[in-house]
Formats: sequence, structure tokens, C-alpha cells
Amino acid sequence: MIIEAKLSGNVARAAHPLGCQADVMSQIQYVKEQGKFEGPKKVLILGASSSYGLASRISLAFGAQADTIGVSFERGIASEDKLATAGWWNNIFFKEAAEKEGLIAKNFIGDAFTNEMKDQVIQYIKDEFGGKIDLLVYSLAAPRRNDPQTGEMHASVIKPIGEKVKGYSINIEKEELFEQTVEQASDKEILDTINVMGGEDWKLWIDALAEADALSEGCKTTLYSYFGPDVTKPFYGDGTLGQAKRHAEETSKEINRLLQDKVQGESVICVSKAVTTKASAVIPIFPVYACALYKVMRNKGIHETPIMHKLRFFKDMLYGNQREYDQLGRLRPDSWELREEIQAEVKEIMNKVTPDNFKELTDFALFKKEFLQLNGFDIEDVDYRDDVDIEKLKSLQP
Ligand code: NAI
Repeated sequence: MIIEAKLSGNVARAAHPLGCQADVMSQIQYVKEQGKFEGPKKVLILGASSSYGLASRISLAFGAQADTIGVSFERGIASEDKLATAGWWNNIFFKEAAEKEGLIAKNFIGDAFTNEMKDQVIQYIKDEFGGKIDLLVYSLAAPRRNDPQTGEMHASVIKPIGEKVKGYSINIEKEELFEQTVEQASDKEILDTINVMGGEDWKLWIDALAEADALSEGCKTTLYSYFGPDVTKPFYGDGTLGQAKRHAEETSKEINRLLQDKVQGESVICVSKAVTTKASAVIPIFPVYACALYKVMRNKGIHETPIMHKLRFFKDMLYGNQREYDQLGRLRPDSWELREEIQAEVKEIMNKVTPDNFKELTDFALFKKEFLQLNGFDIEDVDYRDDVDIEKLKSLQP
């Protein structure tokens, strides 16, 4: 069958398997071109199937020869109308490429928040992965979490706190700029978002791994946080998601103490730059900021995609000697995004943007291209007129 890109607003409804494969291969190629680095050899990545998690996995496998376990929540082919998600294909094609190089690449598909998933992964580490991990990357972006301790379901929302926020956002499907008002979060919504996207589950993973003696000497862990400039603060940094990230940052201190005591390891927050992902495209108002940011960073030759950003983080910072800390002890590869001259230009663009001029003033074209590429579309060397053999692809398992 022929698979075409299908968008509903800022959500992709289709993914192209061969395009996803080409995208994974091009990220691998990028990492190989940058040369090898000394890094961890046994890595567990939570949220490994797309964007930052996938970029981390590719950087560590192909840059540092790491065996990896990836946990993600993805769907395989349900029917001709409901094909698999991009992350499903990314898992399959990453694994294929890693195994070709003699690396272990194990995928677990399911809910990382459950005790069952933690048990299964730890059992696998003990039985088949050498018994211990050197690094845990926490890169989950989830809409909800069933709290295993209370059985209660919590939904995360991206809303401002204290007062509503008004601004422009972008509908990627319609290529339109529109006015958006985001109502302020209720107290419950704030707590729910912290429950889903804060540090609690991260700590549960570390506790479970520590109890099973599955952390190697010097084991590290990192979680991807976001801080952002003043223009995004009301609906992001100072909003519900920001609260969840601040909670995760506090949790990191606890985890750091635990890792130092037990294995002389460390926990570090990696404040990451704004990039186009499945999760970020649905953040209110954020797409306009991202499009303006890309215009400015691209003009200055420092635009980064997730693979560029994460490889730099692991190679230069976490396992390199160019760590850039802030006063709170967080690593700051996002410092390029936050440079004063960059933000001054971004602000100027955001102040001038209107529904008529946004395509000229911002780099919407790049934002849309990157969004399509996340789902395997708009990728060079893939002929989208070719028939895709679904039956053959059905036999591939992550
Ligand atoms: P994404 O949506 O591309 O990836 C999320 C990953 O989590 C996928 O692998 C998905 O399968 C997995 N996942 C979701 N729910 C799950 C569950 N219940 N069990 C197992 N796996 C599950 O998200 P993205 O943007 O790469 O975000 C990753 C992290 O980076 C998030 O914590 C996000 O807040 C953070 N971050 C993102 C930035 C951005 O601009 N996209 C900026 C700074 C930080």
C-alpha cells in the first residue's frame, strides 16, 4: 500500500516505516561521522523510541559502543487503517542496525510506570544483560500515569499557573497561526502533572535497580528537563510542566545521594534545548517560539536536532570534559538556546509575528519538515510513491 502523511492539527496519524528506517539510519550516520567517545557500555533508556530518548540511544550505541535496553509505549500494526506508530518502527530499525554491529539492543514495549515493567526489565538485566547497568536515561514524555502505589490515574496537562495565557500558536496541518488562550491549571492539575512528569517514577526505577544490585560502580543517571527563556515561562517553565521538572530536579538530588552512597555514582539533570518532537508540538504557544528560535539559531549556524544535541551532551558533557553547570548543579547544553543575543532576536520576531507574515519571519518550514520527519515523511531518498509491503513489515518485531 501507499502510505501518506496524515495530520490532525499537531498530531500525526500515520508513520512511514521506510521513512522511519531512513531517519534512524541518518542519525546513526551522523553519530558515526562525529567519531567515537569513551562512555557507558550498558545503558537503560526509558522513552527510547523517539526524539530525545532515541537520539540518546543512538549516540550511546554508535558513539560509545553501548549495549542498550529501550523501554517505550508504542503500537504495532493494528489494521490497514491503523498502522504502527513511528516509535514502533524506530525500535525495530534501531535494533536491526545495532545488532549488525554486534551490540545488544533489547526493546520492551509497555508502560514504564508499572511495577511489572520494572520487574521484567530488571530480570532481563540480571539474566541476560550482564547483571548491571552503567547509565539510566529517563526520557519519558507521557500523557498519563497510573500511580502504582495508589492505583489512581493522573493526567498531565500543559497549562499556566495563576493566570491564563494568551498568545499565538501554529496549526501544523493547516499551516495557520491562530490565537490561543490557555486557561490556568487547577491545583489538582498541577499535582497530577507532577505525579506524571515529576521525579517520582524515576526514583522508583533507581530504587528497584539498587535493590536488585543492578547498578554498576560509578553508575550515572540523567533526566531531561527544560527551563526556557522568559517568553515561554508563563505556559512552560513556570507552568504545570515546569513544576513537574522542578520536582524531578529535587528528586535528582535524592537520587544523587543514593548513587554516591551505594556505587559512587551520580545523578544529573540535563536541561535540554527546545526541539521539534511529538511531545513538544502539542505544547500550547510553543510552536511559534520554536519556529522563531530555529530561524535565529539556523542563521547563526547553531540549530540542533535531537541527535546533535544529545550527542554533544553525552560526548562533551556527561562523559567528556566540557561540562557546563549552572548554580543549581544542572548541566546546561541548552545554553546556546538561551544566549542573550539569540533570545533578543527571538523576542523581536515573536513581537512582530502575525497570521500573514509568520512563514516569512520564522522558520516554520523547518519546524514542519522536522515534524514530518519524526513520522518518516519528507525524507530524502525515500520514494513515497512506492508500495509498502505491509505483510512483510508485520513479521518484523521490536
Ligand atoms: P517524545 O514524545 O518524542 O518521546 C517520549 C517517549 O516516552 C517515547 O519513547 C514514548 O514511547 C515514551 N513513553 C511515553 N509514555 C510511556 C509509558 N507510559 N511507558 C513507556 N514509555 C512511554 O518526547 P520528547 O520530546 O523526546 O521528550 C522526552 C523528554 O525530554 C521529556 O521528559 C521532555 O519533557 C524532555 N524535554 C523535551 C524538550 C523538547 O523540546 N521536546 C525540551 C527539554 C526537555
